Amino acid sequence: MEKGDMLYEGKAKKIFLTDKEDEVIQYFKDDATAFNAEKKGTILEKGVVNNKISTRLFQVLADAGIPSHFIQEINDREMLARRVNIIMIEVVVRNRATGSIIKRLGIEEGLFISPPLVEYFYKDDSLGDPLITEDHIRLLKLATPPQVTELRNQALKINDVLLPFFQQRGMMLVDFKLEFGLWNGQIILADEISPDTCRFWDIQTGERMDKDRFRKDLGRIEETYQEVLKRVSS
Ligand code: TMP
Ligand code: ASP
Repeated sequence: MEKGDMLYEGKAKKIFLTDKEDEVIQYFKDDATAFNAEKKGTILEKGVVNNKISTRLFQVLADAGIPSHFIQEINDREMLARRVNIIMIEVVVRNRATGSIIKRLGIEEGLFISPPLVEYFYKDDSLGDPLITEDHIRLLKLATPPQVTELRNQALKINDVLLPFFQQRGMMLVDFKLEFGLWNGQIILADEISPDTCRFWDIQTGERMDKDRFRKDLGRIEETYQEVLKRVSS
């Protein structure tokens, strides 16, 4: 497979065309941003770690019957993926309260949320990715009502697989963000699943094992990303 021109560059990844019309290469960068890119930095080897973690998690999900854009790992920083049209909605699933929801609703940090809660955010950096409702999604024509139902159902199914997967590895899957794409008229999981897009709390110590270490300057960022990779690989 030949690597072609760059199709798109985001904050943490680049997408390249290939000689196959319906396949792209997803390249993972070390760049890290927070607070809508107001804070910028580098997490050494993050691209390698996130490529490997995403690869493993997409395989775990495929084994559980949940398809994604993932085809195969190419090298340390690159995976081959199906070319999808990204739906401009960030789907967030929460099992415990932290981050934006505690500020928005005034609820207690760490509150258990059961059944899990699904939120939608409009993927638009110029607007700061605002929280949106199903009616906003209809207004903006981001997805049809049946597609929103499908996004929600897939997100909850993914949570049902990943929550015990991380639990078995000593980690609480606190919350995570998913992106989906349209592929042959079908909605499939896309983007990445990594410590950049999830929150993990160590079950023993409560230690933060995700990008909150960068967002909040908690230190030991690289070591923590490596530890997540080690646990996910086991
Ligand atoms: P939030 O609490 O800041 O809304 O974040 C919810 C989850 O989404 C958390 O696991 C981090 C992830 N997330 C992203 O992947 N990208 C983003 O731009 C933001 C704001 C959150
Ligand atoms: N990726 C986000 C940004 O810089 C921030 C975050 O993940 O907190 O916009």
